[in-house]
Amino acid sequence: MTSPPFRVGIVGCGAISRNHIEAFRVIPEAQIVAVCDVDATRALETADRWGIDGAYGSVDELLAAGVDIVSVCTPHPTHEAVVLAAAAAKVHVLCEKPIAIELESAERMIAACDEAGVKFGVLFQRRFWPAAQRLRRAIDDGTLGRPILGHASVILHRDPAYYSAWRGTWATDGGGVLMSQAIHHIDLLQWFMGEAVEVHGHVATFRHRIEVEDTAAAVVKFASGAMAAISATTAATPNLGETIRITGETGATAELTEFPEGSDGRITLWARGTEIGTEPVHPAGLKPNIDLSTINGQLIPHHASQIRDFVDALREDRAPAITGRDATAALRILLAVYESSRTGRPVRLAASAVPAS
Ligand SMILES: NC(=O)c1ccc[n+]([C@@H]2O[C@H](COP(=O)([O-])OP(=O)(O)OC[C@H]3O[C@@H](n4cnc5c(N)ncnc54)[C@H](O)[C@@H]3O)[C@@H](O)[C@H]2O)c1
Repeated sequence: MTSPPFRVGIVGCGAISRNHIEAFRVIPEAQIVAVCDVDATRALETADRWGIDGAYGSVDELLAAGVDIVSVCTPHPTHEAVVLAAAAAKVHVLCEKPIAIELESAERMIAACDEAGVKFGVLFQRRFWPAAQRLRRAIDDGTLGRPILGHASVILHRDPAYYSAWRGTWATDGGGVLMSQAIHHIDLLQWFMGEAVEVHGHVATFRHRIEVEDTAAAVVKFASGAMAAISATTAATPNLGETIRITGETGATAELTEFPEGSDGRITLWARGTEIGTEPVHPAGLKPNIDLSTINGQLIPHHASQIRDFVDALREDRAPAITGRDATAALRILLAVYESSRTGRPVRLAASAVPAS
C-alpha cells in the first residue's frame, strides 16, 4: 500500500483536467507532480499555469517519473490503454466517465486493476450532490421505499462547434448524448433503482452533423420489476437541463433537477401522501445555453468530493465510492439502447463477466 503524500499525475490536459487539478490541489495528502498530453505544448502550458514540475508527452514518461495516482482525462476510447499502463506500473487510477466505450474494454480494465492490486475509481460526481444523497437515503430509509417507476430526462443544447476534434464519431467518441451526457443520469437512475435487466430503445441524429446520436429514448426494466423511461437530446434550444423522477413503493415521489446544466441537483418535487413540496424546475431569470467551461467549472465541488473520497479510500485501504464495476452498470444500459435501436428488439442484459464486488 502506498502512503501519503500521494504523488498525482494528470493524463490529458483538456477541458476537464482543470476539475481534477483544482480538486487535488486542496487535498493536503496529495501533490500533483506531473501532467501529460499527446499535445506536448498543452502539457507544458498546463504545468506552467498550475506550477506543476513535470510535463510529458506520453503516459509512459509520466509513469516513469514516479506517481502513486493517475487521473485519466483523455477521450473515451483512449481510457483503456492509459488504465492498463497505470495498472502495469502499480499506480492507482481515477478515470473520467465513460469507463470505456465497450464492455469488454471495461472488463479488461477492471481485471488489470484487480490483478495489480490497485484502486480503480470512475468519475460520476453527480452522485455526490447532497440532493442525490438525500434521495438515495429516502429509498433506503423507507420514505420512498423500493422504487417502482423512474424517469430521466436530459434536454440539452450543444453548439455545432462542440462536435469537433474527437467528439461526434463512433470510433473516437463511442456514442453521442447517451455516452457523453446522459450517462451521468443513467448512472443515477440505476443507482436509485438497482440492477437493470432489459432495455428497449431508439436513437437518432436529427440536428447535429455527426455520426453518433443526438437524441435517444428508452425504456428500462429492473430486476426488482420496476421500470423507467429515459429521454435525452443535445438538439434542444434552449438548454433545459436534466431531471430524474422516482416514485417509490410507498407512493411517494421525488424529483431531482439539474438546471442550469452543471449546477447542483435540487429536489424540485417531494410528494408524499397529502404533502406536496415543490420548487420551480426552471427558475426565472437564468441564462440559457451557458458555455461549456462554465458548466465544467460548476462541477468542480462535486469532482472535489469524489476525488477526496478516492484519496480517503487509499488512506483507509477500502474501495472508492464508485468503482470500475459500479461505473460499468450505466455503460451496459446505454450500449443496450444502441443495440436495441439497431435490431428493433428489446435487449436482455447479461450478467457481467466480472463478478460483482
Ligand atoms: N465528469 C464530467 O462531468 C465530465 C465533463 C466533461 C468531460 N468529461 C470526460 O473527461 C474526458 C476528457 O474530456 P475533455 O472534455 O477534457 O476533452 P478534451 O478534448 O478537452 O481534452 C482531452 C485531452 O486529452 C489529450 N489526449 C488525447 N489522447 C491522449 C493520450 N493517449 N494521452 C494523453 N493525452 C491524450 C488531448 O490532446 C486533449 O488535450 C472524457 O472522458 C469526457 O467524457 C467528464
